[in-house]
Amino acid sequence: GLAAPAIASAQSFPTRNISIVVPFAAGGPTDTVARLIAQGMTANLGQNVIVENVAGAGGSLGAQRTAQARPDGYSLLVHHIGMSTIPTLYRRLAYDPVNGFETIGLITEVPMTIVARRDFPANNLQELIEVVRRDRERINLANAGIGAASHLCGLLFQSALNVPLTTVPYRGTAPAMADLMGGRVDILCDQTTNTTQQIASNQIRAYAVTTRERVASLSDLPTAAEAGLPNFEVSVWHGLYAPRGTPAPVVERLSQALQAALREPSLVERFAALGTAPVAQARATPAAHREFWQADIARWRPVIQAAGQFAD
Ligand code: MLT
Repeated sequence: GLAAPAIASAQSFPTRNISIVVPFAAGGPTDTVARLIAQGMTANLGQNVIVENVAGAGGSLGAQRTAQARPDGYSLLVHHIGMSTIPTLYRRLAYDPVNGFETIGLITEVPMTIVARRDFPANNLQELIEVVRRDRERINLANAGIGAASHLCGLLFQSALNVPLTTVPYRGTAPAMADLMGGRVDILCDQTTNTTQQIASNQIRAYAVTTRERVASLSDLPTAAEAGLPNFEVSVWHGLYAPRGTPAPVVERLSQALQAALREPSLVERFAALGTAPVAQARATPAAHREFWQADIARWRPVIQAAGQFAD
């Protein structure tokens, strides 16, 4: 029958390399998460899963690339909380940011940290807040563009302090971190997957984690609430996507591979060293991912509208 080729291809899937787009610069937090799951998925699928960085426009360029790719399971996307904020932040997009994708599964929720260049003149979060309030004209905040997690955290920071700051956008927080370590920008709010090593080696200063609980791998670092910013909570969920119309059996096979990757002890260990953990198995499914994502879009919409800073 007419459906036979599609079924046959789903059964033999995959027969060649699979590409995962990371919508931010290489070496940064999204890239780190994607490369770790790509390793485990390669082992489970018996084909190479390759990461390709398509950075720009706060992660929307890479998302567009995947939304417009052939829906055959060979073009995937790892994206984060930006999938919840971009639909509200960007009023003009060349793809459908809500219905353009099949969800494959959630991956992880990564804590963030408020960090500064190494010689920043503040010893704790309270002093940081005082310096920011006093020297607001001279202090800048790095981020990875409108739609990035660092942008979202920066918005929450500016709104908590009620101080607007100059922002410096990058193609990802890997280059933002390079400039922070070089002392060329002042403050960054970034994921533990991109700050843990730099904090441990004293290349940057750290003031707080943005989760309710402290992070085991950075146990000396207070939570924002402990350090004087109550209710300052944000973590960065990541998920795996395929273009809309990818056959359900292919999506199901990819989800199994993702779940297998997340169970690998080497991945769990690496995630823990970077301050994070895989989601529970039940959340690494297409349905759980879609439900969580839709609710998160609704959660962030009023926050972004209240902040009133949109992309063009
Ligand atoms: C990245 O991979 O560069 C980050 O996830 C950027 C961000 O969203 O802050």
